[in-house]
Amino acid sequence: MTEAKKLFVKTYGCQMNVYDSERMAEALGAKGYVTTEVVEEADMVLLNTCHIREKASEKLYSDLGRLRALKAERPGMKIGVAGCVAQAEGEEILRRAPVVDLVVGPQAYHRLPQMVEAGTRVVDTEFPVEDKFAHLPERRSLRGPTAFLTVQEGCDKFCAFCVVPYTRGAEVSRPVARLLDEARKLVDQGVREITLLGQNVNAYHGAGPGGTWGLARLVREMAGIAGLDRIRYTTSHPNDMDDDLIAAHGEVAQLMPYLHLPVQSGSDRILKAMNRKHTAEAYLRLVERIRAARPDILLSSDFIVGFPGESDADFQATLDLIRAVGFGAAFSFKYSARPGTPAAEKTPVPAEVADARLQELQALITTQQQAAQQAMVGREVEVLYEKPGRRSGQMVGKSGHLHAVHVDDPEGRIGDMVRARVSASAPNSLAAELISRIA
Ligand code: 5AD
Ligand code: SF4
Repeated sequence: MTEAKKLFVKTYGCQMNVYDSERMAEALGAKGYVTTEVVEEADMVLLNTCHIREKASEKLYSDLGRLRALKAERPGMKIGVAGCVAQAEGEEILRRAPVVDLVVGPQAYHRLPQMVEAGTRVVDTEFPVEDKFAHLPERRSLRGPTAFLTVQEGCDKFCAFCVVPYTRGAEVSRPVARLLDEARKLVDQGVREITLLGQNVNAYHGAGPGGTWGLARLVREMAGIAGLDRIRYTTSHPNDMDDDLIAAHGEVAQLMPYLHLPVQSGSDRILKAMNRKHTAEAYLRLVERIRAARPDILLSSDFIVGFPGESDADFQATLDLIRAVGFGAAFSFKYSARPGTPAAEKTPVPAEVADARLQELQALITTQQQAAQQAMVGREVEVLYEKPGRRSGQMVGKSGHLHAVHVDDPEGRIGDMVRARVSASAPNSLAAELISRIA
């Protein structure tokens, strides 16, 4: 018997890439590849890249530099570049990095097995008309009790700073029946929590029984799958939070009380320049409606500081919005000019100004995050164990509010759901005492 070939996958960027990496590994599994965590023993290295900010993009070339030395010692090793940098730069990657054997875009990776077989250097960054998901092998759960499920890809919003509409293409929603089937199969393999993914997940409009379904209807239907205890979704656009989805947060017990709802800025002038198509006030009103449906919901967001033209007053308006909402967490970024996007033509804010703003914003968010965690102390939470903790006899999992929670539980196993009382808040996690085992 020939030994299985080993595949090492490195994932950069967002959760959609994590999902794609799993599916690419499964596609190559059909060609006899098994995954490895040790790059030195790999027969194939696949870098699943991110193009969202300049720094994320640059990582590819520094990693390729390191892989060149490794490949010199392991002739026959193949190197593939996938994801959004592959889509954006295509042939250019082969030119810049002779070490690369294949380049595959996010819409063409179902063709990876043929590409590997081709034996020559190949690029496939097409947006084929066929649905790649229909050509992929069935899911195998790879990450224990939680799984991602991509329900929608691409974006039609064209925020002025963002490359996604160019690298991932127009919005496409997967059909309801396929998603329910994939979800059921994940649950059959022990998955208890599914996060529905999409670049604009709440714009989901998939073909389903009786017509087009929105995200709320999909969530309600998934909640009927026995054994699926938790549902989350990400990433959402404020303008796509429709009444039904807001209502679902109050009505569907499986829908967890955490919502990532990027706002980017609190200044109407900047929001307009970003082509976000809503005001700060509209976002605040939306938050009120979501909280009316689910009062304990924890909100997180994305912010960009230093967008071209951002004045001190604009930045203060962002801080005001953050104070008005009170977030449980947030991701914040310095604006990064991306080739081909409208904002890239504009004069940037000086780097030192953007740096100082980022620090100030992050300090405010940290304060809010700590306050949200502190507010959990003394409360009962349900924790789904994802892995053992660092201390022996300890397990780590997530609460409904997506806090990482450490529980002393020598009998605990990955995949257990327990009730626990929060006893303390650390910088990025909570500690809790076991009350009872739920199942
Ligand atoms: N510069 C900085 N941040 C960006 N994001 C998207 N494009 C850029 C850019 N050019 C951020 C946004 C988005 C998150 C995924 O990445 O905040 O919500
Ligand atoms: Fe990018 Fe805006 Fe689409 Fe989000 S909504 S993926 S930020 S263009």
